[in-house]
Amino acid sequence: MPADSRIPRVLLFSVLFLFAVGCAAGQGQASQQTPVKSAPSASASATSAPSPEASQYVGAETCKTCHEDIYNAWQKTPHWKTTLNKEPSHQGCEGCHGPGAEHVAGGGDVTKIFNPAKHSAKEVDAKCLTCHADAHPNFDRSPHARANVGCISCHSVHQSKEEKLLKASQPALCFQCHADTKPAFNMPFHHKVNEGLITCSDCHDVHGTFLANNVKSTADQNAICTKCHTETRGPFVYEHVAVKAEGCLGCHTPHGSQNARLLNMPAIAPLCNQCHSGVANNTVHGMGAGSSETITCTNCHTYIHGSNMNAAFLR
Ligand code: HEC
Ligand code: HEC
Ligand code: HEC
Ligand code: HEC
Ligand code: HEC
Ligand code: HEC
Ligand code: HEC
Ligand code: HEC
Ligand code: HEC
Ligand code: HEC
Repeated sequence: MPADSRIPRVLLFSVLFLFAVGCAAGQGQASQQTPVKSAPSASASATSAPSPEASQYVGAETCKTCHEDIYNAWQKTPHWKTTLNKEPSHQGCEGCHGPGAEHVAGGGDVTKIFNPAKHSAKEVDAKCLTCHADAHPNFDRSPHARANVGCISCHSVHQSKEEKLLKASQPALCFQCHADTKPAFNMPFHHKVNEGLITCSDCHDVHGTFLANNVKSTADQNAICTKCHTETRGPFVYEHVAVKAEGCLGCHTPHGSQNARLLNMPAIAPLCNQCHSGVANNTVHGMGAGSSETITCTNCHTYIHGSNMNAAFLR
């Protein structure tokens, strides 16, 4: 059935557009139901016209007549909402592919339509950002954009089985290119990314941030860690200066570690003694049973991230 109804519609639309764009009458003779790559004609210069008229846009329903499979899959994605847009240049297929009248009039002339697959990452990103710049204002300065990893390296816009139109789910998507981070998540202690408990994008915004390594930040520009580990956030009456000055990564490693508390050193005493070397041999610390030689620092300095009760974080 669809095959039967399709041909006349194509013809009808084609004729309408030929009329609208005022193409040479001779071209109208060409059979439009068999798509052909038409030879470059005098009207080719029209592609560089300064501002495309509304009449150069044909609407997604027209594209459907020849690209039905793509249309049907696309229709189920959130991008269908663009058809509600009032501005033709921001609607449907043409929101990404640009005005389609000449492509249609040419029976599917591939030289008259923007095909992202044939353009640089920067050009495609610019198209996407005409609508998504508000949500992703920092993309251009992100390590991904600078390395020519563009929107469609990670997103599949016509259809996707994954959330957010991703090409693959996390972390598999990320490991395709970041295989070097994989071993950390196989260490004895790690943030449970492979297990699906948290995702790479809980800590990173791959669309760009103001911190190094695409690390997300909270409103007060602290690394994102305290969003989940609220008990470490403070403010405390007695802050551990290191937490504020160095941040969480002064003592922890984010992906995985041999240490059960994801510390960036194998044991606690040497970690502390990087900054407190003078302390351990004096006063309370040097005295036999209570010595830091036998009991680890945090057995006594329990509230290591800060305390409201005690300046030495004992309680
Ligand atoms: C959100 C942007 C976007 C929208 C909307 C969109 N496309 Fe595409 N299209 C792309 C991108 C990007 C490519 C390049 C290949 C890829 O990444 O899938 C592409 C490629 C194509 C191709 C080349 C063949 C192929 O599959 O690679 C055709 C044909 C096409 N699109 C038709 C359509 C039609 C018809 C619609 C509307 C039903 C549509 N597109 C809507 C972005 C879009
Ligand atoms: C009259 C039928 C017809 C209509 C209507 C039509 N196309 Fe096409 N389109 C084609 C044909 C034929 C091709 C070439 C297919 C191929 O090479 O596999 C094509 C190819 C494309 C390509 C790939 C170009 C390339 O560089 O390979 C894109 C993108 C595309 N169409 C988008 C659209 C969009 C968007 C619309 C609606 C504005 C649309 N088409 C309407 C017939 C049509
Ligand atoms: C390196 C991979 C990657 C690149 C490159 C990328 N994205 Fe994403 N995008 C993701 C992931 C992962 C998510 C889901 C998690 C998130 O929101 O950060 C996502 C989510 C989104 C969302 C949904 C946001 C939301 O919060 O609901 C939009 C819209 C989006 N991306 C658009 C873009 C655009 C536009 C570009 C190019 C300018 C782009 N993305 C580049 C991986 C990527
Ligand atoms: C004409 C405007 C427009 C263009 C161009 C556009 N988008 Fe979108 N995009 C939208 C709208 C509207 C939504 C739906 C937002 C919503 O659901 O609130 C959306 C949603 C998305 C989402 C989120 C999907 C989800 O499941 O939440 C992603 C990812 C995305 N777009 C990526 C892209 C990429 C990649 C490109 C370029 C190839 C692109 N968009 C081009 C308007 C656009
Ligand atoms: C298509 C390949 C590709 C995919 C997919 C990809 N990345 Fe990247 N990523 C890169 C490249 C290339 C760079 C820049 C060069 C570098 O630093 O490794 C980069 C940079 C980064 C950086 C910054 C590293 C630094 O040294 O500044 C982070 C963090 C990152 N990606 C995380 C992710 C996450 C999370 C995902 C999955 C949602 C992801 N990437 C998906 C290729 C990719
Ligand atoms: C718990 C938060 C968190 C999670 C989850 C996380 N990261 Fe990271 N990642 C970070 C932080 C913080 C840094 C910065 C490390 C530094 O500055 O030493 C980083 C650094 C990186 C880097 C840059 C250099 C390096 O250390 O290898 C890449 C690439 C990266 N992460 C990719 C990923 C990928 C891929 C995933 C998911 C498989 C992921 N990250 C999950 C917090 C996280
Ligand atoms: C999305 C929420 C989330 C974010 C963001 C996050 N974490 Fe975690 N973190 C967890 C969960 C859940 C666990 C427990 C995992 C488990 O059961 O193995 C955990 C475990 C830990 C542990 C080990 C604690 C223990 O008792 O086993 C440390 C240390 C840690 N995270 C530090 C950090 C640091 C540092 C950051 C920022 C770079 C960070 N986390 C960001 C959710 C998060
Ligand atoms: C001065 C070093 C240091 C800094 C900075 C630091 N931590 Fe810790 N953290 C530790 C030590 C040591 C432990 C292990 C405590 C223990 O074994 O009793 C720990 C334990 C943890 C734990 C496990 C649960 C707990 O409280 O014992 C989490 C979660 C955690 N830290 C998150 C964070 C976050 C988030 C930040 C940044 C806001 C941060 N840490 C900054 C040293 C530090
Ligand atoms: C990155 C450096 C750094 C690391 C690592 C570090 N600290 Fe600190 N710590 C500081 C600084 C700086 C101060 C503030 C010192 C001051 O004012 O003399 C401080 C203060 C303290 C205080 C309170 C001192 C006082 O005079 O009231 C205690 C107790 C303490 N640290 C214990 C520890 C323990 C235990 C560890 C290991 C788990 C540790 N620190 C790891 C930098 C660090
Ligand atoms: C047996 C319990 C205990 C252990 C173990 C311990 N401390 Fe202490 N620490 C204390 C007490 C008690 C004080 C004195 C608190 C006060 O003056 O109120 C103190 C004070 C401190 C101070 C601040 C006072 C000063 O001397 O400058 C620092 C810094 C400190 N400890 C670091 C460490 C480090 C680093 C370790 C591990 C190498 C460690 N402590 C192990 C009990 C302990």
